[in-house]
Amino acid sequence: ESFLPLKVSAIAPVNIAVIKYWGKRSEELNLPLNSSISVTLHIDDLCTKTEVTFSDGEDDIICLNGIEESVSKNPRLKRCLKIVREHSKKFCSKEVKSKKCKIVSTNNFPTGAGLASSASGYACLAKCLGTVYDAYIDHSIIARLGSGSACRSMYGGFVKWEKGELSDGTDSIAVQVASENHWNSLRVLILVVSSQEKSISSTEGMRRSVRSSPFLQYRVEQCLDERLKLMEEAIQSQNFESFAEITMKESNQLHAVCQDTYPPIIYMNSISHEIVQLITAYNDQKIKVAYTFDAGPNAVLFTLEEYYDELLATLLNYFPPTNSNNSNNSNNSNNSNNSN
Ligand code: PMV
Repeated sequence: ESFLPLKVSAIAPVNIAVIKYWGKRSEELNLPLNSSISVTLHIDDLCTKTEVTFSDGEDDIICLNGIEESVSKNPRLKRCLKIVREHSKKFCSKEVKSKKCKIVSTNNFPTGAGLASSASGYACLAKCLGTVYDAYIDHSIIARLGSGSACRSMYGGFVKWEKGELSDGTDSIAVQVASENHWNSLRVLILVVSSQEKSISSTEGMRRSVRSSPFLQYRVEQCLDERLKLMEEAIQSQNFESFAEITMKESNQLHAVCQDTYPPIIYMNSISHEIVQLITAYNDQKIKVAYTFDAGPNAVLFTLEEYYDELLATLLNYFPPTNSNNSNNSNNSNNSNNSN
């Protein structure tokens, strides 16, 4: 006898990588060339809410930010549904087998603007589908099949995505390195440089880099083992200077790989570069802030509680808020659960 929940809902946060994922060894399964590490951002107005219900409709349906579409047009969603149905403790029941899903998902921030909307989106979906189908696989695998970096949003705090060795991806999963209560003095500031959709998707960007960048190969073979080890140590020992240095070097290297890709991929804009210069000057005597950029122009800054007020004043001095985007231009939070 199976129990059928009528509705499952979840909330999932975004994450920002401090050891970057760039390059797939399998596009079909979203298997990465390297392991990566991220910080989950527990910010109330930067998350996805999703609700999954069983329906008697003809098709699986998704309603994303109010726009409805059939799941059959979206290969990522199809992969997520396929794997939970294949590994469901309930799917053997006739009742569940005949049902389709209705997925309703909303982001409370701009989609596709380098704010990791796919990460929170697929993590949230994975939580719902994993529960509703009672799937006997690591639920971070469901998220990974939607979007690689999403598997890291399944946990709070500091999370490592183990690249895994197996070709079926069963060991390519997320694990928590340290909890959300581990480093309470760490602060995060997001500088929204632009909220426009990015020009080249991360999937397309990675595909081009894997094909054409010799520097990506060097990074994967020569740099990452050491960086992953140093980053884990920096997190465990709360060594901010080391954490910040590796974070900035990783961001620089990701964008250098993009530059080395042919034709080159450019995600940062002139304001992003101004931010890098400002932070570099600010860190002249001592590393007090780290910047990092993903596949878009927006900056995520890490600092410590003791430097936060001074940093914010400096940023507001260099980038005075304009009337129209005053309240939306920066989001801040400390790193503890559901703060601010
Ligand atoms: O998971 P995707 O396909 O959105 O790729 C994310 C890639 C970066 O954000 C640039 C880096 C990362 O590790 O999150």
